Amino acid sequence: MKIDTSLTMPQLPEAMSQAGLQFTVATEEDFDEIMAMSQDIYGGLDYLPTRYTSWLQETNRTVILARKQGKVIALESVCVIDDGETMLVEGLRVAPQERGKGVAGVLLRFCSEMVKSKYPEVKVSRLTRDDQLGPKDFQKYRIITKQGILLVRFRAEDLNFRLTELGLVGNTSSSDCPPVLLDHTTIHRLYLTTDLMQGVLPNATIIQDWQPFKLLPSNMVILLKKDIDWMVDDVSNPTVASLCTFPFRVPIGDDWYYLNIDMFGKDLDLVRQQFLCHLQSHTTPLKGHVMCQMFLDPLLWKPMAEFCHNTLGVELVKEYTEQCVVESDVI
Ligand SMILES: CC(C)(COP(=O)(O)OP(=O)(O)OC[C@H]1O[C@@H](n2cnc3c(N)ncnc32)[C@H](O)[C@@H]1OP(=O)(O)O)[C@@H](O)C(=O)NCCC(=O)NCCS
Repeated sequence: MKIDTSLTMPQLPEAMSQAGLQFTVATEEDFDEIMAMSQDIYGGLDYLPTRYTSWLQETNRTVILARKQGKVIALESVCVIDDGETMLVEGLRVAPQERGKGVAGVLLRFCSEMVKSKYPEVKVSRLTRDDQLGPKDFQKYRIITKQGILLVRFRAEDLNFRLTELGLVGNTSSSDCPPVLLDHTTIHRLYLTTDLMQGVLPNATIIQDWQPFKLLPSNMVILLKKDIDWMVDDVSNPTVASLCTFPFRVPIGDDWYYLNIDMFGKDLDLVRQQFLCHLQSHTTPLKGHVMCQMFLDPLLWKPMAEFCHNTLGVELVKEYTEQCVVESDVI
């Protein structure tokens, strides 16, 4: 049976109908067309090829396509989180030949209208950007929090050799108190039943692989379904916490993996320890190239970049950039 996935909005703002765009809910069959217009985005680190199928199955998510004369020219995903109060915008992309014409703006407004009619309790829209925000963006958005982005690349085999040389393999930490990998019960207790994480997380927000979550049980249900290693330095009094998303393949080339580490807290030694633990446990089984992106307190970017380059001998891919979680009211 063919499912009708076309979307009609009774009261589309004028600009949308003028743009001559049609909007549909994405299906498995659209995958190739979407990938064709997604070449080279996010510097080859596009997560969509890996996430697409599971995105389509998530009950709180809708993936919307904009089409022009039937052809897919843009995509955006909206996911309702934070007990239904937040719509999270992700995956936004416009086909290269259609950029600069206002398509993203029209699609964003369409998705906002759709979410408002489907989830009337949604109050804010959140998204995470890594580009330079301009004055117009500051009029539109409130900044929730910022993290520095440290992007390094290496061959997994070379890094494993280097970690062994440094005596770091099998010896996760030279300190007496190695970081603790958390089980689900401890994560739940630490993040939801105590206020211990409030001082560690930026603006009390868990940012996992670009997604900002408030500290709420409903969000924890979403997070605990994912393959993530959760770590803290000390379960009774955490200073640094981290979430390492299991590595996945990215389109930059064959045998290229993306490793995402979200790091919270300001203590350089503890950050270094947790970073090394995640690298050790996730790069040892890999063969091939790794793009490792760590999001961390902006003040720790420089010393961690120096550590990566000077001690680990890995290549810094780009200079300092920021991951910015922004929010606007849904009106
Ligand atoms: C970023 C991109 C989607 C912009 O598309 P576009 O159609 O050229 O953008 P527009 O002409 O509609 O103009 C910009 C509008 O999109 C919004 N926009 C631009 N970049 C954005 C971003 N990264 N995230 C969310 N909104 C963005 C602007 O705020 C503006 O909205 P407004 O009309 O309400 O003012 C497009 O260049 C693209 O696909 N780039 C590659 C993928 C990418 O970097 N995506 C961003 C993910 S964070």
